[in-house]
Amino acid sequence: MENFSAYNPTRIQFGRDCTKSIGTDAAFLGKKALIIIGKGSVKKNGVLDQVTAHLKAANVAYELFEGIKSNPEYQDADAAVAQAKAFGAEMIIAVGGGSVIDTAKAVCAGFYSDHSVWEFYSGKGIKPKAALPLLVVLTLAATGTEMNRFTVLQDTANKHKRGWGNELLYPYISYLDPVYTFSVPAGYTAYGIADLMAHTFELYFGVDAAPLSDHLATDIIKLAMEYGPQAITHPEDYDARANLLWLSTVALNGTLNAGKRNGDFGVHAYEHVLSVLFDIPHGAGLSIIYPAWMKHFYGEIEAKMDFMAERTLGSGKTGKDFIAALEAFYDTIGTPKQLSQWKIGAEQHPLIVETLIENKVRGSYFDMQKADYESILALMA
Ligand code: NZQ
Ligand code: ZN
Repeated sequence: MENFSAYNPTRIQFGRDCTKSIGTDAAFLGKKALIIIGKGSVKKNGVLDQVTAHLKAANVAYELFEGIKSNPEYQDADAAVAQAKAFGAEMIIAVGGGSVIDTAKAVCAGFYSDHSVWEFYSGKGIKPKAALPLLVVLTLAATGTEMNRFTVLQDTANKHKRGWGNELLYPYISYLDPVYTFSVPAGYTAYGIADLMAHTFELYFGVDAAPLSDHLATDIIKLAMEYGPQAITHPEDYDARANLLWLSTVALNGTLNAGKRNGDFGVHAYEHVLSVLFDIPHGAGLSIIYPAWMKHFYGEIEAKMDFMAERTLGSGKTGKDFIAALEAFYDTIGTPKQLSQWKIGAEQHPLIVETLIENKVRGSYFDMQKADYESILALMA
C-alpha cells in the first residue's frame, strides 16, 4: 500500500428537498450570487425556480449566466467571469450537470485573475491566487465533480480537451437531491452510468496494491450494474436514482485513490479526443473505448480482471467473462460500445490518431503510443 493523503472539504447535503437550506447557506457567504446553468433543462424541470425562491427568501441577489453546452468550452467560462466581475458576485452557484459545474469551477478561479481561464488548463503550472466559493445543485449522476477538485474544459478550435485540479476548486456545499435527476433522459442516464463505472475502472487499474480501495471499486461496479437498468426502466424510482447519485460521487471523490499513487486515466485522455473531435457525450465515448482497452491490455491486467469478475459475476468467472458481461450491460442500458454505433467510420481513424499524438495521450501505468492507439481503434471500430 502506498502512502497517501486524504482530504475532502466539500459538505454534501443529500436527499429529498436538501436544497431547502441553500438560501441561508448562500447568505452566510454573501449577498450576491452568479448562477450558472446549461441549455435549459433546469428551467423546464422547475429546479432553477426552487433554487431562486430560496435565494429570494434569504435576500441573496442573483444574476443568471445560461447556455453552457455539454462538453463545455473555455470561452463561456471567460464570459461568465466578466459577468461575475461586473455584478460583484460573492459566490457562484452551479445548477446542472458536470459541464455546468466544471465551468463554474473555472469561473470561481478566473474571478481573481486577469487572464483567460484557459491558462489554468495549459499545463504551464499557472495556479489561482484565490477562488470564489462554489455552491453546487447537481442534476445528473455522472462525473463526481460535485465532490472533487477537478474541472475539464475544451478549446474546440485547437482540438484540446483538458482537465486541471486545485484544492481551491472543491465546492463549498453540494446539494444532491435524487428527485432532481428524475428528468434526465435515458441516454444521459446511461452515459452517466458509463462514466461513473469508468472512473472506478481508472482507479482500480492503478497498479499499487490497495485492497480496501479495490474491494470498494468492485462493489461500485456491481451496484451500478444493478441500479443502472432500474433507473433507465423506471426514471422516477427514487432508490435507483439515489444510489446512482451516491455511487457516482464516491467513484471520484478520492475514496478509491487511498493506498494508490493515482489511477491510470489513459482511457479518459483517449475519450477527451473523441469528445473534442465529434462532440460525443463523455460517457458514450468511454463505453466505446473501455472494452477495447481491456482487450488490448488484457495480458497485463488479467489478474485484476479475474478479481473483478469473481466479485461482480460470481466465483469461477474470468476477466474475459467480465468483458462480455460489460458489453452486454452497455447494450442493456443503451450506451454504445463501438464507434460505428456513433457513425464514426474508418475514414476518421487517421484524424483520431493524429489528435491523440498531438495531445500526447498516455496512461499513468498502461502507456499508449501510436501502435496502441491504432490497436484500440481497430478493436472498437
Ligand atoms: O444543458 P442542459 O439543458 O442542462 O441539459 C443537460 C445536458 O444536455 C442534461 N441534463 C442535466 N441534468 C438534467 C438534464 N436533462 C434533464 N434533466 C436533468 N436533471 O444532460 C446533458 C448532459 O449534461 P452534462 O453536464 O454535459 O453531463 P455530465 O454531468 O456527464 O458532464 C460531462 C462533462 O464533465 C466532464 C466531461 O468531460 C464532460 O465535459 N468530466 C468532469 C470530471 C470532473 N470535473 O471531475 C470528470 C469526468 O471524467 C469528466 O471528464
Ligand atoms: Zn469521466
